[in-house]
Amino acid sequence: MKLFVALVVLVQVVFAAKLPGQLKFLQCKRDTPDLGKCILDSLEKGRPLLIQGIKELGIPPIDPFVLPYMSVNRTISELVSINSVLRNVKTLGLGNFIIDSLIVNPEKLSAEVRYTLPWAYLEMEYDVGGQLLRIPLKSNGFFKGNFTDTQMAVKMTMKTYEKDGDTYLRVDKMTVKGQVGDGWVKMTAKNPELQFGADLISNFFNENPRVVFDAVNPIFVEFSADLFKAVGNQILAKLPAKEIFID
Ligand SMILES: *[C@@H]1O[C@H](CO)[C@@H](O)[C@H](O)[C@H]1NC(C)=O
Ligand SMILES: *[C@@H]1O[C@H](CO)[C@@H](O)[C@H](O)[C@H]1NC(C)=O
Repeated sequence: MKLFVALVVLVQVVFAAKLPGQLKFLQCKRDTPDLGKCILDSLEKGRPLLIQGIKELGIPPIDPFVLPYMSVNRTISELVSINSVLRNVKTLGLGNFIIDSLIVNPEKLSAEVRYTLPWAYLEMEYDVGGQLLRIPLKSNGFFKGNFTDTQMAVKMTMKTYEKDGDTYLRVDKMTVKGQVGDGWVKMTAKNPELQFGADLISNFFNENPRVVFDAVNPIFVEFSADLFKAVGNQILAKLPAKEIFID
């Protein structure tokens, strides 16, 4: 797919080959009887750190999560296509994730996590073209919206590789399924004379959130998979496998 996420904030590359001392409590023993439970506990203990970001590992703050630039260009059908440039994308609420289940298989290097986001508030500058069902997308301005009850299921497999005598992991396959429950949006055109175009889109969304979510779902899940893979690999590239799962 033609998707480009500029990971500018994420690329504060710090070559930390070891988990910094204060993060040691996040490690899990490889042979622990319930690895999933250990990782779940680590995620819970690590939540405040994730929210602020962990500089040493190049993990960006997740709440607020900020992307300076992003472009999503994708055609699903004649009726649904999006060409967009998004700037200063700011998301609030990602830190409130609720892990519904986590299954880890260390032999197969696979993991499956299901989580719910009670709400996510999004704001950004947008320039969008394309088609959304019967509504032409053509607008440029400021977007805000709040989306509730997002359920996600993320499956991934990893592969190992060697670098400088150490074994590292990288994400091999990542599949994401997800559904947003409900939401509202508000769009303000840059040029006030073109506000009708922005209203056309936002009214259509607000009157039919379910229909719109379903129409753009393939874009949403592919985008999420690409983002998770990029962020995941960036973190894994800094941590030899033995630092994640200790013997
Ligand atoms: C996506 O489309 C927009 C508008 O046509 C363009 O400005 C942008 O460069 C495109 N992005 C990519 C990654 O092709
Ligand atoms: C988004 O909506 C939720 C649920 O209605 C609310 O609790 C939350 O405060 C809202 N977030 C923002 C930033 O408005």
